[in-house]
Amino acid sequence: LQEAAGKQYDVLIVGAGVAGMATALSLDPKLRVGLISKGQLSDSSTYKAQGGMAVAVGQDDSIEAHREDTLRVGQGICYEESVQVLVSEGSVALRFLESLGARFCHNKDGLVLTREGGHSRNRVVHYYDYSGKYIAEILYGEVVKHPNIEQIENAFLVDLLTAQDSCCGCMIEQNRRLFTLSAAAVVVATGGYSGLFGRSTNAVSSCGDGIAAAYRAGVVLADMEFVQFHPTTFATSAGNVFLLTEALRGEGAVLLNAARERFMQNYHYQGELAPRDEVSRAVLREVNRLCGPVFLDIRHLGKGYLADRFRQVYSELAHNNYFLEQDIIPIAPAAHYTIGGIKTDLWGRSNIASLYACGEAAATGVHGANRLASNSLLEGVVFGRRVALSINQDFPKPRSICHLPSDGTETVLGYPDAKLLRSKLDQAAGVIRCQEDLAAMADWLSEPVDAADTKTTSTNAYSAYNEYQLAKLVVEAALFRQESRGTHYRTDFPETSTEFQKHTLQQWGRKVVM
Ligand code: SIN
Repeated sequence: LQEAAGKQYDVLIVGAGVAGMATALSLDPKLRVGLISKGQLSDSSTYKAQGGMAVAVGQDDSIEAHREDTLRVGQGICYEESVQVLVSEGSVALRFLESLGARFCHNKDGLVLTREGGHSRNRVVHYYDYSGKYIAEILYGEVVKHPNIEQIENAFLVDLLTAQDSCCGCMIEQNRRLFTLSAAAVVVATGGYSGLFGRSTNAVSSCGDGIAAAYRAGVVLADMEFVQFHPTTFATSAGNVFLLTEALRGEGAVLLNAARERFMQNYHYQGELAPRDEVSRAVLREVNRLCGPVFLDIRHLGKGYLADRFRQVYSELAHNNYFLEQDIIPIAPAAHYTIGGIKTDLWGRSNIASLYACGEAAATGVHGANRLASNSLLEGVVFGRRVALSINQDFPKPRSICHLPSDGTETVLGYPDAKLLRSKLDQAAGVIRCQEDLAAMADWLSEPVDAADTKTTSTNAYSAYNEYQLAKLVVEAALFRQESRGTHYRTDFPETSTEFQKHTLQQWGRKVVM
């Protein structure tokens, strides 16, 4: 990376998941692109995605039906124009992946489409149960063939650089050294912040670095309170959280309470295929009601089918001595996808010139208060490509003088212990929230940090500082939204209120507004 120090690029993309790589591959190949990644390809949330990509290509399907499902699940605050873009560009996204060699599961009649929660029909294009890994590897295989894309690996985004209200590069840390990289355009595609929670399907490293850096640079963030919890995750014997894809329920798995009885029909007309927020809350209610775990049961499909169709899940469970054809599997919700992030327009532009965002780091308004299953890989491809098209068409003027945001690296001084923060956030801002817990968390976050907890400058320190800053934003927005909507459920305000049928907006130095 030494060679990258002080280097000039046309475009810097921070994050190498589906959104970052789709952007890189769709940029004009004449542009010099730096693709910055923090860890391994396998650490990205893209890589961990199991279900697939929702695209309205079935015989019985239509863009209109996909749109309706996305809007219904989003609970009244989807930005309708973004939704229209997402669903109508689905087949373009699919063709883009197919043009790079993707061949999703199919039979003699064509693509096999699976079902997931909230969808009114089978719509999910997939590759067994490791669709994300499949897509990530295809994109990566293409990235390495592009001489104009330089990979800047194991590099941590410290801050974004700005000049005259536009973004002109970033500061990264690699091997405990800081480097500044300049570019005419910077794209934040660093993913979401589910890693802030103790129980999460994401890597701990998914802790919103890009969103935090953008916030410090003056970007407007939207909808930070909306955190989607996936209802069916499994705690491995090694203490990790492993996703049990919703496609299991799409293909017939049912949920049983501690009395071994189905219960989802008592909570939602779509039963086990209700939207994720409904299922997650129902699971926790049953756990509390019967003081015992909830299980996923798909034994009836038999080993032959299960071990093939759900090969990743099957083998992970087998390592933990659970066998899908003979055991019911204990499950619990975990933070899975964060809806909030950098507010962008339909072309991924933020309020700061030359600063773009796409994928989970962005808040396009496409998910409203709850994301429809398998709309996220789709979003990464559709909006990643849109960012690239926007840069290709309207290449920003490069800036020569850059500076760090006022709250830059020098203020990385103190923050609470990350593990403690995560467990407290689970309690206060989990599936079920209330004023008392959120306010206590806000107080705790505003207490001066004990010097003993303060660590020296390093990637860990920057990360922990980001987590602390983002936790504050999540809690502040969750306190502000005095209603229940989608993934944000408050026991003290259990109803949806038209007064809050809006997006929360947060910007450095300002109070949360709608
Ligand atoms: C899953 O496979 O259940 C996750 C898919 C998604 O998050 O959209």
